[in-house]
Amino acid sequence: MYNITVIPGDGIGKEVIKPTIDILETLNTKFDFVYKDAGKECYEKVGSNLPEDTINEAKNSDSILFGAVTSIPQQKSAIVTLRRELDLYINQRPIKSYTDDNIDFTIIRENSEGLYAHMEEDYGDETIAFRKITYNGCQRIIKYAFEYALKTNRKQVTAAHKSNVLPLTDGIFKDTFYNIAGDYENIKSNDYYIDATAMYLVTNPERFDVIVTTNLFGDILSDEAGGLLGSLGLIPSANIGEKTGLFEPVHGSAPDIAGLNKANPTAMILSSCLMLEYLNQQEEADLIRNAVEEIIKEDKIKTPDMGGNNNTQEVANAILHKL
Ligand code: NAI
Ligand code: MG
Repeated sequence: MYNITVIPGDGIGKEVIKPTIDILETLNTKFDFVYKDAGKECYEKVGSNLPEDTINEAKNSDSILFGAVTSIPQQKSAIVTLRRELDLYINQRPIKSYTDDNIDFTIIRENSEGLYAHMEEDYGDETIAFRKITYNGCQRIIKYAFEYALKTNRKQVTAAHKSNVLPLTDGIFKDTFYNIAGDYENIKSNDYYIDATAMYLVTNPERFDVIVTTNLFGDILSDEAGGLLGSLGLIPSANIGEKTGLFEPVHGSAPDIAGLNKANPTAMILSSCLMLEYLNQQEEADLIRNAVEEIIKEDKIKTPDMGGNNNTQEVANAILHKL
């Protein structure tokens, strides 16, 4: 029995969590789901977008499933704070197309520092955001990227950075990358500037196997990868630290479609597969992923973001039916 904290959040976060839990409940693996609040609606109710009680429950669970939250002006982001509170320094985002063999790579994004360190200062007519890059932060994420490549039989790790303009912060990142690459003889290593990476992602996605990058760059590249696959509603993610893991879709709360029952649940459902793998439930993860893959390949039941007319529940039902 696994203890799972479920944080549905706002907007389509809530809409994609529900069918995901329904799917998990059909498995042989058993879960105790404990629901906790975070996000904008939570802020409006209790005056905090990330109550202590949510953080404590998350810290004491085996894993966390997170929908999405709507940001609130002047408030620190609930998800960024939660990642930091739990020291989830790895953000792993597999980008795999089930219809185009050229697209199959994983973005490994540093998840705890960079421009997301919540260090902004107001100097009156000047505001400054600090970009924090540490040796330790670079080492642990880059080492993870190479270990991930080894474990998943990937052939190459690419570093994406901007060391021409940021010679100190991204200089550390690039130097650390090649220092660590030296320990992995059987894995190819190369690097591109982030702007070129963004272009190659569209023109030559087959160039990529594992991409390791800093926080903001990884955030931008993963939404771009959503465009490459045809919808942001297809990309799952794992946030991993030494003690626990939080699994969430790459997308946000999508206020433009919230409440319309149109959200594609695939990203959230595939995020639960990453959770199952993290909990060593590989067979169960494969079961769900194969069902999702079949539905996508059949190309019949799909939400509007994929060019279809089906709603969230119909896609979930199709997956449940396969299971
Ligand atoms: P978004 O990811 O919510 O939406 C971007 C676009 O993709 C929208 O057109 C949306 O309709 C579409 N989309 C996203 N997920 C979809 C799905 N599952 N099915 C179909 N279409 C989908 O990003 P946006 O609009 O920039 O931000 C909305 C809110 O979400 C903001 O308050 C933002 O701060 C927050 N956000 C939260 C995140 C999190 O909780 N981890 C991550 C990203 C944004
Ligand atoms: Mg993002």
